[in-house]
Order: sequence, then structure tokens, then C-alpha cells
Amino acid sequence: MQAPLRALAVTAAAGAGAAVYAGVVERNWFALRRYEVPVLAPGTAPLRVLHLSDVHLTPGRHRLMSWIRSLDTLDPDLVVNTGDSISHKQAVRPFLAALGPLLERPGVFVYGSNDIYSPIPKNPLLYLVKGNDPDRYRRVPDLPCNELGEAMVAAGWLDVNNQRGRVKAGDLDIEVGGVHDSHIRRDRYDRIAGPTDPAADLRLGVLHSPEPRVMDRFAADGYDLLLAGHTHGGQVCVPGLGALVTNCGIEPRRVRGLHRHPAQGDPGRPWLHVSGGLGTSPWTPFRFGCRPEASLLTLVPRIS
Ligand SMILES: [Fe+2]
Repeated sequence: MQAPLRALAVTAAAGAGAAVYAGVVERNWFALRRYEVPVLAPGTAPLRVLHLSDVHLTPGRHRLMSWIRSLDTLDPDLVVNTGDSISHKQAVRPFLAALGPLLERPGVFVYGSNDIYSPIPKNPLLYLVKGNDPDRYRRVPDLPCNELGEAMVAAGWLDVNNQRGRVKAGDLDIEVGGVHDSHIRRDRYDRIAGPTDPAADLRLGVLHSPEPRVMDRFAADGYDLLLAGHTHGGQVCVPGLGALVTNCGIEPRRVRGLHRHPAQGDPGRPWLHVSGGLGTSPWTPFRFGCRPEASLLTLVPRIS
């Protein structure tokens, strides 16, 4: 074989190998991330928070469902679901079955765009052009998000889509504020705006998309910890470079993991955890350099 043909064959084989790895291996190689967050008042007992996001469940993903179900063995005191739970009309029951015993624990949730709009094929290059996601311009929900939300509420979970509320977890009284998905312009922060309660043991902000303009408002109102998802950790990351896009206003450096918001500034600003999430759109079923993940956050006393 001549050298140019050999180079072409090697490149094609490497591309095929990467595609198989991303679509078959890494997409099903679930990771549990663990973080310690020094956010509680001195002397408070630790609190375990399980953060789930972007499951994008479609029927038949039994491996993913059983992995989620197994997370109950972590014995979390609180479960936070930051949305994009389903990606199919028939996925509500499988998603609830995947949560299984987790639903018996205290929980809070918000929706993402994929809980209300069914997935459509998109040109992946649109992700590189901010604001061009076609979901931003859809208006008619066609997924059963109400059925999903009603089931989680019936289990005792707190719906914080543009709402505030209170949840008891462990021995803590937690004030929770949340917004619907800013990526599709359904966030209404004005409905929850106002100073948080200094008497609460923790002030928790919950949102699907970690949009800085929204997180600025949570920070100004005194929230201690913000939990978000949406980014899929970049979904396709370049070795040595990391995520190329975040699909929202946050910069790639904070595409997943534990940070602060704003990234620089007052030492008392809130902690921010962005989950890389557990799934993908069924039209882009691959992940590379960014394993699907759930996180166990152990909240501990602040370092004084
Ligand atoms: Fe998502």
C-alpha cells in the first residue's frame, strides 16, 4: 500500500475506533464523583447530597437505570435533580423506576428543556454558535413533564421551578430556591427574588443551566451553594485541552465540577457544583474525554 493510502487507512481506523469508544464504551462508563464542600456553620454534622442531572433517559437503557438505582447505597440525606431527566415520551416510568428507593429520601428538582421538548436532530456545529439552539425557539411542550413532576412531588420531592421552599434533610433546615431552564428562557428569577433566610441552616440554589446572569442573582440574595447541570461536561473533550463549549454562558473552565460563583471575588460567595450529567441526546449518543457522572457532595463546616 502506498504511503498516502496507508495514512488514510490509519486515520479512518483511528476515527472509527474513537467513535466506537465514545458511543459504546465511555457513554456507558458511569463515574461517581465525590466532593467535600465547606459550606455549613461550624459544629454542624456533615450532610450527604446526591446530585443527579441530565439523565436523558430513553426506554431500554437498563444499564444506566440500574446504576442510578444503586446510588441509594450511598445513603444520601438529600437528592437534587437538576433536570433533563427524560428524552422520550415513554421514559417517565423508567426514570421513576431508576430512582427507586431514592424517591423515599428528601429531594428537590427543576426541569431542563429536554423534560418538555422531545429531542430533535441538530447540527452539532450549532453548539459552537451561541444562541442558535433550535430548542430556544420551540413553544409547544410534547413530553410529559407534568407527569414526571407530579410523580416526584407525590413522592415528597420539592418542585423549585421558579419557586422557593423549604426541605428538611438530616438535621438541617434547608431553604431552597430554583428556576426553570434559562436555556429556553423559562427562568423567572423575579418570582423568587429576595434575601434568603439567615435562620436556615443552608441556602441552596438549584438551576438547570449555569447561566452567569442567573447565578449572579442567587449570589446577591445570599445563597450558599448552587447546583446546576446542562453542560454535559462539554460532552466531547479534547485531550489536554478539555471542553470546547459549555452550551451556555459559563466559561469552559467551570464546565463541570466544584467551583465558586463568581469565579473570583468575595470569599463568602457561593459554591457552585456543575454536574457533567449522565446522558446525552439520543441524536448525539456519544461522550469523549468526559465520562457520564453523578456526584456525592459531602457538606461540611466552613473553614474558619
Ligand atoms: Fe442535558
